Order: sequence, then C-alpha cells, then structure tokens
Amino acid sequence: MQTVASSTSVTSILVTRRLPEAVERSLRDEFGAVLNPDDHQFSADELREAIRSFDVLLCTLTDGLTRDVVATMPKRARLLANFGVGTNHIDLAAARDAGLVVTNTPGVLTDDTADLTLLLVLAVARRAGEGRRELQEATWGGWCPTHLLGTRVTGATLGIVGFGRIGQAVARRARLGFGMHILYHSPRPAPPGIEEALEVERAESLHSLLARSDFVSLHCPATPATRHLIGAEELARMRPSAFLINTARGDVVDETALIRALEQGTIAGAALDVFENEPRVRDPLRTLPNVFALPHLGSATVDSRVAMGDRVLVNIRAFLRGEDPPDRVA
Ligand code: DGY
Repeated sequence: MQTVASSTSVTSILVTRRLPEAVERSLRDEFGAVLNPDDHQFSADELREAIRSFDVLLCTLTDGLTRDVVATMPKRARLLANFGVGTNHIDLAAARDAGLVVTNTPGVLTDDTADLTLLLVLAVARRAGEGRRELQEATWGGWCPTHLLGTRVTGATLGIVGFGRIGQAVARRARLGFGMHILYHSPRPAPPGIEEALEVERAESLHSLLARSDFVSLHCPATPATRHLIGAEELARMRPSAFLINTARGDVVDETALIRALEQGTIAGAALDVFENEPRVRDPLRTLPNVFALPHLGSATVDSRVAMGDRVLVNIRAFLRGEDPPDRVA
C-alpha cells in the first residue's frame, strides 16, 4: 500500500484520488489530509486499511466500498465523504450497519451533466462520431447530398427516465433549446408546478415512454432496483429509429442486450458516457458506427469538479462540528 499512513492530526482524513488543486490545498491546510499523489485507484486492501486508520475517507466512484470492505474491523472511520452524486459504489446498508455516515455532492454537477447529455443526443443523431472518424482516417470523399445523413433533433420526442435534478435540467434544455416534446418516467410525479413550468408530460409507464420516444435518456440512480432497467424487453419496446442515451450509470443498462439491439438494428443507435465495467468498454461499444461513446465525462469541467470538492468540504466540516452534514445519504 503506497499512500495510506495514519495522519498525526487529531482528525485524520484520507483522500483516495487526486482532486483539483484548490480543493487539495484546503484539505491539506485545514485538516492535514493525506493525499494520493500518484492518483492510483485503491484496491480493496487499501480501502480496508484506510477504514482501519482514518476518521474520514474522502472517496469517489472508483472506490469499491462493498459490504466486505465497509465492515472492516477494527475501524477508525466514521465518515465516507463521497466526491460525486452517485453512491452505487458504496454499500449504503452496510455503511449504516457499520455506523458510518455517508455524504455525496448533489446539485453542483447538474448543469454540466445535462449539457453533456445534449451533446450526446446531438452527436449520435447527427453522426458526429462517424464524421470525425472520416477526417481522422482521411477517408472523406467530399460533400455530397447523401453523405452521413442523420436524424433531426429539433421537435423530436425525448423520453427521460428518472426525473430528479439532472433529468429536469435536461428537459429544460431540450424543450427550450430544441423544441422537443418531453415525456418522463419516474416512480413519483414531479413536484407541483414542474410539469407545467417545463412543459413535460408524465408517461403512464416506462414501456409507454419507450414506445413513444425518439430519444430515451437515462437519469435514474443506480440501485439494485434499477440494475438492468433497460434490458432486451425494454429495447424491443423502443422504435427502430430511436436512440438510447446514458449519462447515469452503466449497470442501468444490460450491455449484452444493448449490443445485440445495436447490431441487429432493433434501435438506431446509442450515446453512452457510462459503462457496466469501467474503465473496460466492450469492443462493439467502442467500434459500432451507431454508437457515440465518451469516457465518463458528465461532470468533467473545472467548475463542477471544484464545486464538488467544495461541497465535500462543507459536509466534512459539518460532520466534524458534530452536525448532521447537509448531503447525508446514510
Ligand atoms: C457522479 O457524481 O456520480 C458522477 O458520475 C461523477 O461524474
């Protein structure tokens, strides 16, 4: 284990990945936090050692905080302060059982993730990946009326699965920017006034949303209940001309079923920012012409990442003052 060495300060904090410089400076100056200078991904053994040796783990989505890891005994850890909104890499029930508080960073990455969703919609509909490849490989034969004809986004129907902050931010952009008709599916109706303000319609079921949408965009959290929410049956409900967009989490989609649907033309294409086994991306999802893929860049702006770090600091400070942290999820 390279990084983990117990801090001598009263409260010891371990940061599992490199963070923006200003955030690391605050963590070092304010708390004497132990950083991860080579930015390696922690193994399960390193995480266990960290739980034994530090009061606070500032962790993120590359840390597999499984029940087995979280239950490490003896433990010193009291807080898992997650850098990121998604917490599917943390067994929250196990954390509760172990008496650990868990926090995340909601709100501050909403706009950037929504922006990137629209980038994916446009890129896959307008065949940007194929066009770029032609330039890179010097195979472009010049303009002609039938070259790389794509699908019109303006006025199309967008089905949003999961209608929290990010889903709503996507709806706003798609409605106001592209005049799209917006359907959404979520376990509960949107809060009063939201449907009217955003001009969105709640679909009566996921299947009905899938059947009516030109683009289906996933914005639900990854939980045991949403694992493979989009599988063979759901893909078969989509229109052959429709596209699937995923900026949520890879395991919301059954990738094997998705690859089959893309190869067989059951759906027209997919634009993906997240994958089931990151950073491994299955070959067809990297090479199929009807897939536009990015390496998990949803919140990857300086603004979001600094704001996420600031949010983590707010949670840590509150916890250390003995208060309930504002973004407590367990
Ligand atoms: C999150 O916050 O969970 C994002 O996936 C990180 O980009």
